[in-house]
Amino acid sequence: MKTLITLLLLASLSFGANAAEDIHLQKARIDINDKTSLLRGAKHFVTYCLGCHSAKYMRYLRIALDTGVNEKVVLKEIAPEGASIYDQLHSAMNKHDAEKWFGTQPPDLSLIARSRGQDWLYSYLKSYYTDTKRPFGVNNLIFPDTAMPNPLWQLQGEQHAEQRKTIWGEHAELVLAEEGSLSEREFDVMVNDLVNFLVYVGEPIKVERESMGKYVLLFFSIFFILAYLLKKEYWKDIH
Ligand code: HEC
Repeated sequence: MKTLITLLLLASLSFGANAAEDIHLQKARIDINDKTSLLRGAKHFVTYCLGCHSAKYMRYLRIALDTGVNEKVVLKEIAPEGASIYDQLHSAMNKHDAEKWFGTQPPDLSLIARSRGQDWLYSYLKSYYTDTKRPFGVNNLIFPDTAMPNPLWQLQGEQHAEQRKTIWGEHAELVLAEEGSLSEREFDVMVNDLVNFLVYVGEPIKVERESMGKYVLLFFSIFFILAYLLKKEYWKDIH
């Protein structure tokens, strides 16, 4: 009986831990073959992130090639003014200014989707809330005391953190206190496109590999039929 109770206790503890994780991370819907989402994400990145962050493993040319969009269109619609199609996604922010303003440097985001994970990124960008104790007046549930001001506050609006009590304990829940220029749904799509783009930037060859995968499977299916027919032919006289 004692063992049974211990087991039940352990199970409920691990369930509690999972539940807590579920509350924190929201799921991003990633599809790097969705070219329009990638293009929208690239545009958002240049508009809202490039001021501080680079993604130096990516070039505008590569975006044009992978999405099948004309180079001129990428330059006009996505790249900042004066950029060349061969340029990397390079931020103009210099190190000294960054140190002065944020006390740290905004990291390069080329591999961020791989190191932090897509759901973490999606949740992080959505989890800012007002906190007057912080230098920029905001804090973040996923990355507490982050030095990054909320780059998307005009779109999302202002969130407040409210303490909620549940059987698992107390946790903060974010509520929209002031609406932004986008509706909640539009904002979700926007952040999702941005994360989709960052996932693609982390491994651009994946787009190519996935389309090549289809041909490899096709080859194997044809090869299998041929091998089977050949086997039948060879064993015909023995059976
Ligand atoms: C005003 C400058 C600024 C802008 C604009 C900005 N960031 Fe940041 N970002 C920072 C700084 C500074 C940090 C370092 C935070 C820290 O270490 O506490 C950071 C950190 C991050 C991190 C965490 C990196 C890590 O793992 O430690 C991510 C992810 C990130 N930014 C994504 C973005 C995205 C996506 C955008 C565009 C929507 C963006 N940032 C726009 C300044 C900025």
